[in-house]
Amino acid sequence: MPLILGISAFYHDSAVALVRDEEVLFAAHEERFTRAKHDPAFPAHAIRACLDFCRSSGALKSLAELDAVVFYDKPFLKFERLLETYYAFAPRGLRQFMAAMPLWIKEKLLLKKRIGDELKRIDGTVVEESRLLFSEHHLSHAASAFYPSPFDEAAIVTLDGVGEWATASIAQGVGNSIKVLRELTFPHSLGLLYSAFTFYLGFKVNSGEYKLMGLAPYGDPASARVAEFKQAIYRSLIDLKEDGSLWMDQRYFEYASGMRMVNARAWERLFGFPARQPESSIEQHHCDLALAIQQVTDDIVVKIARTARELTGLRKLCLAGGVALNCVSNARVLAAGLFDDIWVQPAAGDAGGALGAALSALYLHFNAPRTSGSDRMRGSFLGPAYSDRGVLQWADEHAAPRTAYDDFGDLCTQVSGLLADGNVVGWFQGRMEWGPRALGNRSILGDARSPAMQKTLNLAIKKREGFRPFAPAVLAEKAADYFDPDRASPYMLFTAQVKPEHRKTLPSDYHARPLNDKLYFIRSHVPAITHIDYSARLQTVDRNTNGPFRRLIDAFERTTGCPMIINTSFNVRSEPIVCTPEAAYRCFMTTDMDYLVIGNLLFEKKAQPVWSEAGYQARLKSRLSSVHAPNPEKKRRDDLAGIAVLALILGGIGAISHNQWVLYFAGAIATTGLASRIAAAWIVCIMLWIGRVLGAVNSRILLALTFGLLLTPLALVRRLFNRDSLKLARKPDASSYFTTREYTFGKADFRNMW
Ligand SMILES: [Fe+2]
Repeated sequence: MPLILGISAFYHDSAVALVRDEEVLFAAHEERFTRAKHDPAFPAHAIRACLDFCRSSGALKSLAELDAVVFYDKPFLKFERLLETYYAFAPRGLRQFMAAMPLWIKEKLLLKKRIGDELKRIDGTVVEESRLLFSEHHLSHAASAFYPSPFDEAAIVTLDGVGEWATASIAQGVGNSIKVLRELTFPHSLGLLYSAFTFYLGFKVNSGEYKLMGLAPYGDPASARVAEFKQAIYRSLIDLKEDGSLWMDQRYFEYASGMRMVNARAWERLFGFPARQPESSIEQHHCDLALAIQQVTDDIVVKIARTARELTGLRKLCLAGGVALNCVSNARVLAAGLFDDIWVQPAAGDAGGALGAALSALYLHFNAPRTSGSDRMRGSFLGPAYSDRGVLQWADEHAAPRTAYDDFGDLCTQVSGLLADGNVVGWFQGRMEWGPRALGNRSILGDARSPAMQKTLNLAIKKREGFRPFAPAVLAEKAADYFDPDRASPYMLFTAQVKPEHRKTLPSDYHARPLNDKLYFIRSHVPAITHIDYSARLQTVDRNTNGPFRRLIDAFERTTGCPMIINTSFNVRSEPIVCTPEAAYRCFMTTDMDYLVIGNLLFEKKAQPVWSEAGYQARLKSRLSSVHAPNPEKKRRDDLAGIAVLALILGGIGAISHNQWVLYFAGAIATTGLASRIAAAWIVCIMLWIGRVLGAVNSRILLALTFGLLLTPLALVRRLFNRDSLKLARKPDASSYFTTREYTFGKADFRNMW
């Protein structure tokens, strides 16, 4: 069976996934290794970690063993979409053109070479072009949702910002095949609509969408303002058809031709208040607008799911794409009763495209037979692991006092007692999670019954906004005692409602109170995980997917009678989830966390020595730079070649101009370069810097001329002939904005970058 590496990169959330024999051997996000959140760089560190992990089990010794390397989208199709966008909006769009084009010309259009070079740097393997494959972006999402699901056949819905052209798709998966049926295309996009509101409400696009979702329940569902906001969205921003397809009025948005998401003045006129500045106070109208867009999103997702049901006739649904991380909308689809079961890829965003790319090539390019019936994500614990011996060695090196437990059950009993006493515990076990959620291997834990815990965790530990809710990890068979609906939710991708018998009644003027008052009102017997609308982002834990975590919650139940604990990701604001024991220890030492568990070791904060952040940063920098450090001999050869070229040019100029000083200068440079390695490196560095500045100035002039003299006139001529490639015209009488595609993917769809 083929051994396939999937890669997503160069946009945001780069990642890698390795697949063989229908088995996902490894999957991890680049950000976890580089510590740069949503890192878009080529996932060199993740691939190295994959090699290290797989070498130890013998699954992969060298990249030379790979049958294919699959990139998660088609760069040429994306480039075509960019050009069409410039044609549609020129003369607007110059700044975006100037920002995007250098990257495309230098890197993305030469992606095969770039990937080949990067892989060669990792272990010297030359991956021939015939082994480099490309999967369509939404096919990657669809494959990541359908193939690892337990379903033999299912409707598949993918929803994100944008891939190449598609922003949403409806497909059907049967056996090992995927057939796409409908697509919505750029610039009309539910993901971009949600991101536009994320931006307007003062959060970061492509990462703050969770915050918007968490803020929405603070809106007052009974208020006239929420209803007015929804009306304004439906009336002015979008035209929504009954099948869930939508058109977006581009006069209100700037993401297609500008450097921002929205036309802020037009939005201010529409909603009656200006864009919220990041970190400024959150007022009730911000919450109401968040609720309005969440309800509109729910409405659209349910409509699209209904269309998928009608088109395919199938009773199971698979979801992926960034919008599928919206667990409120997922719960609405579930509640609509359209499908018997729904499965969502835990890494539904672009990182998951790496896995989808590998799986789509496995089943569609290599035509591997597919066996279904079980969830193939292994609880999403697909990243690297660290041996007990290695952790001990690290703890010794750092003189970190700890208690070692020979019996894991004793450790669980001890930790459950610490949690019950109100302590916050960092919990680090086994393989790192794949996807944005921590599911019990890289988690921070607390007591869900504690009224103070939400505030403590948000402000003192996670250092993030106080309004953000926490998720419960609950024993699978006890979930029904506390939550509706009674359904397994191992990946924390659906919200559930706290049952009425566990709720506390809210005062009648609750929604009129200031946000801070509402925030810490005791809403249930498990207040730390009960959101303001009695919802909870549930994780059910069973023995099969995460035994150690399950044993801890079992122990907590024995200690307290409560079958759940708070489970939040092991990181602080603006940082990725920790990957290594050292990163976990650093997070433990730089926050108010009380205890840390790594494997069977328990660290108490009070007993630890003073933490040296400077030392950690130096180690991290050295580790990261070693990955890309050039071979010293090659660097020396390159430096000497650079100096020779410079000396020749200067010598030539001196000879032609009969200027002896220039000749002396050329000689001095050549002599210094030969005499001293350091001086040679500096001379080449200065040369490159001057070259870069001149190149940047030249390329900016060239790009501006291209945009003004070539692209804009062409765009105006095209518009004269009424060519509307982006479908910018509203169609009030049409029944759908979907494009009908009806296409079954096959072997030939992976060879090209288009
Ligand atoms: Fe995507």
